[in-house]
Amino acid sequence: MIKLGVIGLGRRISGLIKSLTQLDPEFHVTGVVDPDESGARERLPEADRTTARFYPSLPALIRRGRPDALLIGTRCNLHARYAAAAATAGLPLFLEKPIATSLRQVRVLEHAWRDARAEVVVSFPLRVSHLCVEAKRRLDAGAVGRVEHLLGVNYVPYGKVYFEGWYRDYRITQGLFLQKATHDFDYLALLAGAPIVRVAAMMARGRVHRDSSLEPAGGDPEAAYYPHIGTPETGMNEDSSSALLEFANGAKGVYTQVFYTRNSAATRGATISGLKGTLRFDWYGNDLRVVPHAEDTQPEIYRPAAGLEHFGGDAVLLANFRDVVRGKASSVSPLRAGLQSVHACLAAKRSAETGRFVDVPQITDL
Ligand SMILES: NC(=O)c1ccc[n+]([C@@H]2O[C@H](COP(=O)([O-])OP(=O)(O)OC[C@H]3O[C@@H](n4cnc5c(N)ncnc54)[C@H](O)[C@@H]3O)[C@@H](O)[C@H]2O)c1
Repeated sequence: MIKLGVIGLGRRISGLIKSLTQLDPEFHVTGVVDPDESGARERLPEADRTTARFYPSLPALIRRGRPDALLIGTRCNLHARYAAAAATAGLPLFLEKPIATSLRQVRVLEHAWRDARAEVVVSFPLRVSHLCVEAKRRLDAGAVGRVEHLLGVNYVPYGKVYFEGWYRDYRITQGLFLQKATHDFDYLALLAGAPIVRVAAMMARGRVHRDSSLEPAGGDPEAAYYPHIGTPETGMNEDSSSALLEFANGAKGVYTQVFYTRNSAATRGATISGLKGTLRFDWYGNDLRVVPHAEDTQPEIYRPAAGLEHFGGDAVLLANFRDVVRGKASSVSPLRAGLQSVHACLAAKRSAETGRFVDVPQITDL
């Protein structure tokens, strides 16, 4: 039996754990840290529901539960604290994103993991989705020549979750660059072949999604009202936000995310170009197209299987985590990628707040 210790056994991680235990029935959740014991127990796979033990803290889970691997699935603002505390355990770690929500948390994480030997799998399913892997393979094979420009778009059709559920609490999310763009900045850097080094960003807040508790009855018909979502002054999630990106190898990019989109207006993907061609993919459309720029050439089209969780990425991440725990593989989504992405998100947030270009700190010693 491979014993899993879980910190924050909520909706997201419980879904992943069910898939992981189906993938490899040797894996069992034996220890949990979660203040909501009854809710967390309900969310456990049936085989572990009565046997898993709950502990008051991570050190207690590690000392008394002796797990073989850890998973952190709390809400965003607690990821870094628990991940830093897990560093000395020397156990493989599956870590939800965003892996930190402030520069201070990033520094604490970097410091804690500087000399740690364990593998971390950061929960970035898009970077290992079929379309992104295929895009990377074709770009590396020279499909567009040297990558010069990347355009990332994310028109989110389920954007109201960021104003209805717990995601509306800005103190937890610190905004939607960290919450959402952390995935996109990560896969764009992967496809660019270099980290993001400079960002200029803008955001729109409080124009569409508005706090109903502050609004007189019969307010603006162009607005969508939600309680307790804050204001631009107190901090709130964005209606939309965009960033200009510069990569370390000189490539340039643009990323835009929009949260009031609905229905088939949904689109998420990238257009990547160089002198020799243009590669474009869309996860919602589930296709990838390479258009060579040379005359008399035909576009190539690739379509992976449809209907998979996070476009096939969750299954790949979980199979990789299983292999990491079994000592057969290293992480396909390492801590360094998670940290670099948070740095880019924090830079975008700061740029949008100040109206200035912001340099992105680089991870050098992990
Ligand atoms: N990678 C992805 O694609 C993806 C998708 C969805 C959500 N997420 C991320 O997953 C995280 C969790 O989201 P969710 O919807 O499952 O939230 P959730 O509220 O369902 O789960 C959070 C869990 O943490 C527990 N918790 C609260 N305080 C705690 C503490 N001090 N110590 C330990 N546990 C504590 C809660 O009781 C709950 O069980 C978020 O950070 C979100 O950004 C990632």
